Amino acid sequence: MASFRAALAEAVAGHLQQHESAPVVGLVPTMGALHSGHGVLIDAARAASDIVIASIFVNPLQFDDDADYQHYPRTPEQDVTLLGEHGADLIFLPEIAEMYPGDPHLPQVRVSAGELGHRWEGAARPGHFDGVVTVVAKLFNIMSPPAPGRLEAWFGAKDAEQVAIITRMTADLNLDVVIRTVSIVRDEHGLARSSRNQRLDEHDYASALALSAALFALEDDAAAGRPLGLADQVSELNATTGVDLDYLVVVDPGTLQELHPGGDLLDEHGVLQGPALALIAARVGPVRLIDNISLDPGRSQPRE
Ligand code: PAF
Repeated sequence: MASFRAALAEAVAGHLQQHESAPVVGLVPTMGALHSGHGVLIDAARAASDIVIASIFVNPLQFDDDADYQHYPRTPEQDVTLLGEHGADLIFLPEIAEMYPGDPHLPQVRVSAGELGHRWEGAARPGHFDGVVTVVAKLFNIMSPPAPGRLEAWFGAKDAEQVAIITRMTADLNLDVVIRTVSIVRDEHGLARSSRNQRLDEHDYASALALSAALFALEDDAAAGRPLGLADQVSELNATTGVDLDYLVVVDPGTLQELHPGGDLLDEHGVLQGPALALIAARVGPVRLIDNISLDPGRSQPRE
């Protein structure tokens, strides 16, 4: 960790020798098993930052299931190659004892995601978001550049709840970090890229496409000013072989609270009145998949 902080200080000093402006340090926190979606995140950080850092750490604190933690794909050599190809300047790949140096290892003192951490993914995976915000707060501390450097952290919009909760943590804890997001990267059939997709076989993959199909249908309903066909999409997903739906909901993007007809954002017919977010989670084969889409009643262009 000390050598990483020294390398960061050196990168900041090097920037200041050549430029008058303070460097923007772009941090891309990851758990490794990187794919093209991460490449897009690094590219976005690269384009907007002077110094790009990527971290690779499979955080035990955010897994509620030890088997899931043990089976999480770990491909450090490939990851380092991909990060190099996408122009990361520094890679932080800590050992577990470095991140959690206490005895026993896992920390006594943690960050709480509060009520936001108990919704949707938080309800399905108790403690998950507390684990996420704890490690992210630690990464922000470790990566915060010496003055006058400024830290910006990049996250994928696929983890919409994670982004909402980290944004809230940053405000609540007065952390000097700008949170930036990059749109979801989908494959040619619409499936959102995820490290977990590696564990889907051919049949699972075909079933998994039903998730994004449901989201696209809701997106079209919202854009066309039709009542959201949420119940129809839920029935269709429940009838899809290989998909064990946990939830498909439309929520307020800030509070993550479910919208109901007759409220501020959904009229009594179920027609959306303002920007919202559709969230979905389902078990498909051996993995739990999540996805989401922004619903925008103002968007009139059909999806390409
Ligand atoms: O999104 C992830 O990969 C993880 O939740 C994160 C933000 C790297 C924290 O471990």
